[in-house]
Amino acid sequence: MASRVIPVDPFDLVVFGGTGDLARRKILPALFRRFCAGQMEENALIIGAARSPMDDEGYRAFVSAALEEFNPSGISDTEAVAGFLRQVSYVALDATGTEGWQILANRLRGRDAVQAFYFSVGPSLFGALAEHLHSYGMAGQGTRIVVEKPFGRDLTSAKALNATLAAHFDESQIYRIDHYLGKETVQNLMAVRFGNMLFEPLWNSQYVDHIQITVAETVGVGGRGEYYDRSGAMRDMMQNHLMQLLCLIAMEPPAKFDPDAVRDEKLKVIRALDPVEAVDLVRGQYEADEDKPDYRSQVGDADTTTESFVALKARISNWRWAGTPFYLRTGKRLRAKVSEIAVVFKETPHSIFGPEAGRHRNILTIRLQPNEGMDLGVTIKEPGPGGMRLVDVPLDMTFAEALGPEAEDVPDAYERLIMDVIRGNQTLFMRGDEVEAAWAWTDPIIAGWEARGDTPQAYDSGSSGPEDSLMLMHRDGRKWREIRA
Ligand code: BG6
Repeated sequence: MASRVIPVDPFDLVVFGGTGDLARRKILPALFRRFCAGQMEENALIIGAARSPMDDEGYRAFVSAALEEFNPSGISDTEAVAGFLRQVSYVALDATGTEGWQILANRLRGRDAVQAFYFSVGPSLFGALAEHLHSYGMAGQGTRIVVEKPFGRDLTSAKALNATLAAHFDESQIYRIDHYLGKETVQNLMAVRFGNMLFEPLWNSQYVDHIQITVAETVGVGGRGEYYDRSGAMRDMMQNHLMQLLCLIAMEPPAKFDPDAVRDEKLKVIRALDPVEAVDLVRGQYEADEDKPDYRSQVGDADTTTESFVALKARISNWRWAGTPFYLRTGKRLRAKVSEIAVVFKETPHSIFGPEAGRHRNILTIRLQPNEGMDLGVTIKEPGPGGMRLVDVPLDMTFAEALGPEAEDVPDAYERLIMDVIRGNQTLFMRGDEVEAAWAWTDPIIAGWEARGDTPQAYDSGSSGPEDSLMLMHRDGRKWREIRA
């Protein structure tokens, strides 16, 4: 059974940076899949805009190649591809000059549709784009703009970006994407927490020993060395994706599932985070593999001290979580690609089975990728004679198995998020104050290691990260879950 398609209003979407990597890999394939699902009206316009001189036909060839490369299963439907391409056009445009803007404005004039502008360009161009949209009459009430991370590189630059956008757009028109929020299981986290009676009463420091969040990748920095070396894992992943997961797992129940109610609660979590002490922080850099270069040669700087791995212990100073640490780690070139959250409950206060039965804990694991699903480790009696021996077994609920083909047919993060922009639903987008609060927490951590002159610890490609990251938990009598797909 195909997943249910909820109609959206007619829309036009302009992709600034329409020939860029994100457009090719994510935005255009996502739009094509929504077209195939029947969510795009026949007269919707998809307009790529970029600097390169190109005509509509040239851009359609570019889009077609992108679909072939990044949407291999759908490309066989040549009729659908041809239909989609008929709605695609191109405007050669200079973001900072005047070329192309009037052409774009004419193309959109008089259209009765939601108009969304995707800023798939570096943040240095956000101001010029916003300004031009305004001066060419494309910044009306119905306009929505979509911006991607990196949203600044510290609190000061994030504030400046927010101010730049606010000069021409209301906060309700600004959609800041964090693609982790579009992932199916991330939203399921809210359904599990707030749709079940079972977990919420236990969801606090009285019952939860600690929480682990791991986002591990097997890839290195690849061709993004220049960007990445200026960011590092802290800015690239921790400040946004892991922070968002932390918020969803730790926030209070919002009164309603509506954008501001949810974002208000997330903001309270970020603001309740304690500063991270140097001893609770580990940074790492990957070494070479048999056939893959080390981090330093990949970014072309033998002396770089940028981290490709970061692990830290965070504390949330509020009633619910005082005393329960959150251990977060993320890195590249690790053993497996896996993103998961583990809620590790405390041991029972007293074991009636005596010391031989051992001590056991329930662990609720929420897997974002791969094999999206959850499992709850429960303690049972080991079957057979020979007394009361206890063993931990998983109550496994892999969504694909439990829900059948419907679970495999879910839209990917970009499909969902772009459609939410058209629907005008900001629940899964970061509000300006949230981004600023996340930087306010991140900045002193980075300033601290810069002031101390810390250098990242080397770790082997294909490992679980630097030795010190294992010690971070070991020291507290705890241990990370194994990184395995
Ligand atoms: C991006 C980061 O935001 O997320 C990348 O810039 C990272 O460095 C990517 O590889 C991971 O996303 P996903 O969806 O593959 O887990």
